[in-house]
Amino acid sequence: MKPWEILGLIAGLVLMVAACGGIYGGDTPSAVPTSTTPPTATASPTPASEGQRLFTAYGCSACHGPEGQGSAIAPGLAGHTAGQVKRQARAPLGLMPVFPPSKISNAELSQIAEYVESLAGDHVHMRTTDPGESLAQHHWMTLFALEDDSPDEAVHHIDHIIEQVTGEHLSQMNQAREETEGGQLHEAIHIIENMLAGVQVDDLTPSEMHARLARSSVLIDDIDGVLHHLDHLMEALRGDPAVASQVAEIRDLLESGDISDAAHELEELTGRAHEEEHKEEQDDGGGHDH
Ligand code: HEC
Repeated sequence: MKPWEILGLIAGLVLMVAACGGIYGGDTPSAVPTSTTPPTATASPTPASEGQRLFTAYGCSACHGPEGQGSAIAPGLAGHTAGQVKRQARAPLGLMPVFPPSKISNAELSQIAEYVESLAGDHVHMRTTDPGESLAQHHWMTLFALEDDSPDEAVHHIDHIIEQVTGEHLSQMNQAREETEGGQLHEAIHIIENMLAGVQVDDLTPSEMHARLARSSVLIDDIDGVLHHLDHLMEALRGDPAVASQVAEIRDLLESGDISDAAHELEELTGRAHEEEHKEEQDDGGGHDH
């Protein structure tokens, strides 16, 4: 199937999901439900877990299959960790719609993630037709697995990367695999982060990557993760004053527990990180020291 055909299919499914939402949603005239209360379960003959019920109610099953087994348009979900599910829902990679906290609460998402974690079966992947994109995705999945303390899952994705790369990239990946197997997850994370900046198809810079990781961390309430990536962001931008003041503001918001404003600021920061670093590249003739 060609990418645009997949897109068409997904667009159709999204509409379908939205239309179903309208039925659950009740009295609003719009097709998209505005209420944040979970849709009621469709009658099911056997009592399913709450996570499974939500998986169906929120439309995950429309693309990933009723048991999360996969379909022509979306990968099977067995073998994914809870952290990966949460990240993917809040800050999706590839052709999946985003599910913000206004749509699925953190508590509900945890139940869905628990359900996905309980799925038995082989770990399968979407075969993307773009090798650059699939490579970038395996780096992201490796990173999330490492952050989740799931070394086996990380090695699985590293092996997929190893199949596709050569030269310096290959030796870095072998190194990352060794560190992971030796329990040095933090070292492995740094290798993957550095390589990720080089493989992302849309010209991802290190600062932008850390801004994105900070943003997805805030969305899953991982405040330590946000602070960690903000530190790296400052390093990557070598203390740019405009960014420094925004980072300080975000830290204040996080400290006072104002998570949604912090998330909003982080979103802006992601755009700014992109601009600043590209500007800097032009100023000093292209190279940056990472
Ligand atoms: C409109 C279709 C659609 C819906 C609805 C959807 N997904 Fe996805 N999902 C996808 C596609 C397509 C991918 C593969 C993205 C890629 O690799 O390009 C994906 C990827 C994933 C992945 C990562 C799998 C991997 O190996 O890369 C997880 C985890 C996931 N989805 C969970 C969910 C959950 C949980 C829900 C419901 C809250 C959901 N999805 C709703 C289409 C969908």
